[in-house]
Amino acid sequence: MKRLMTILAAGVLAFSLAACAKKDDAEKETTRATENTQLTEASSSEEKQENTESETTKADVTTSEAETSATEATTEATAEATTTEAAETSAAHKEVLVVYFSATGTTKDVAEKIAKIEDADLYEIVPAEPYSDADLNWNDSGSRSTKEQNDSSSRPEIGSASVSLEGYKKVYIGYPIWWGEEPRILDTFVESYNFDGITMIPFCTSGGSGLGRSGKNLEERAGSGNWLDGKRFGAGPSEDTLRSWIEDLK
Ligand SMILES: Cc1cc2nc3c(=O)[nH]c(=O)nc-3n(C[C@H](O)[C@H](O)[C@H](O)COP(=O)(O)O)c2cc1C
Repeated sequence: MKRLMTILAAGVLAFSLAACAKKDDAEKETTRATENTQLTEASSSEEKQENTESETTKADVTTSEAETSATEATTEATAEATTTEAAETSAAHKEVLVVYFSATGTTKDVAEKIAKIEDADLYEIVPAEPYSDADLNWNDSGSRSTKEQNDSSSRPEIGSASVSLEGYKKVYIGYPIWWGEEPRILDTFVESYNFDGITMIPFCTSGGSGLGRSGKNLEERAGSGNWLDGKRFGAGPSEDTLRSWIEDLK
């Protein structure tokens, strides 16, 4: 009997131990499973965060690329506009300008012939107050022209709109000789402009007098520009005469 009781007690003990071991295993499994779940959740959250960040980065890059290409497009558009403007400016301006004043048409004829030969633009200095025949009477010591020529500080007003000299490399400047010099309205003109970088070529018409001091007077009063010597013509010079003078200037 005593032996039987011992066997039974050993059996109960073995069962209890096995049950405990099973319980331990089960608890360990549960813990592992929980840890795995937490790990999975953590890594999935990290992944999600990475994905979000990567998407954000992608979005940033895309935005930045879009901005860059927008900026480039604007820059290109601006460059094109500038080129177009430059083209229009150069198309609107010839390289040579012929400026002239003419009271009775003789200088005007020469100016137009020079402009034709040089393919130049023309600009007429028109007095704000036109000269009448009486004004031009050199036999009258009281006429307007005589009084103006006797006063080196006289500056008759110009009535024609001002001209832009931008883009011109060469400017011819023509006038009649009055009392051996340039009419004072030419002084008004040269004192109103900046001729920097422009070759200035005076020409005049007269009853017989030469250019005299007129070219030098204009150069001094202008104070800018590269002034050549210039030339006097009689009434109605031929195109050949003018062409050969122009060729000699080059
Ligand atoms: C007020 C006045 C003064 C002049 N003085 C001279 C002169 O000193 N020497 C000369 O040879 N011709 C003189 N002339 C003649 C002009 O220079 C000449 O007729 C000129 O070609 C006129 O040019 P225009 O028709 O373009 O005005 C004078 C003409 C005027 C009206």
